[in-house]
Amino acid sequence: MRMNYVSHSVEDTRLLAREQAFELTRNYEGRPIIIALEGELGAGKTTFTQAFAAALGVGDRVKSPTFVLMKQYDLETVPGYHHLYHLDCYRLNNGAELYPLGIQDILENHGNIVLIEWSERVAAILPSGRLVVHIDHIAEHIRNIHIYKKE
Ligand SMILES: Nc1ncnc2c1ncn2[C@@H]1O[C@H](COP(=O)(O)OP(=O)(O)O)[C@@H](O)[C@H]1O
Ligand SMILES: [Mg+2]
Repeated sequence: MRMNYVSHSVEDTRLLAREQAFELTRNYEGRPIIIALEGELGAGKTTFTQAFAAALGVGDRVKSPTFVLMKQYDLETVPGYHHLYHLDCYRLNNGAELYPLGIQDILENHGNIVLIEWSERVAAILPSGRLVVHIDHIAEHIRNIHIYKKE
């Protein structure tokens, strides 16, 4: 899977995230969905995550977890999926700093969806086969969003 999308607005980015949420949860059938978000500050990583989570019924409870590193949400209505995790690794220097959170089990367990902001910083511990959402800031409201599977 490899696609490129030019977003012209926040709403465009939200729409893409919602579509991805529906498509991936249908196609992965309970297997862990790992989404590595890359892009500079203000690229739209949190915007994408919030819309993805909202599409799965998490509502507007998703806040940027920069200060808590990881937040877990329960999924009540998504077949095959029970938990959504949102990580922000901005302050980390390497992936080993995630081990105390039990990240290895989280990444492996069926029924989990994991969205990771600043995933570049912890790439060494992320599984191959993850989806990368790479967002480039082109202009004030324009973003290039490249989605591909990292083998
Ligand atoms: N096309 C777009 N897609 C996403 N965000 C956009 C877009 N155009 C402007 N923005 C703005 O860019 C900012 C993105 O912030 P945020 O999602 O918190 O980024 P990050 O988590 O990558 O630091 C928001 O202020 C949002 O309103
Ligand atoms: Mg963010």
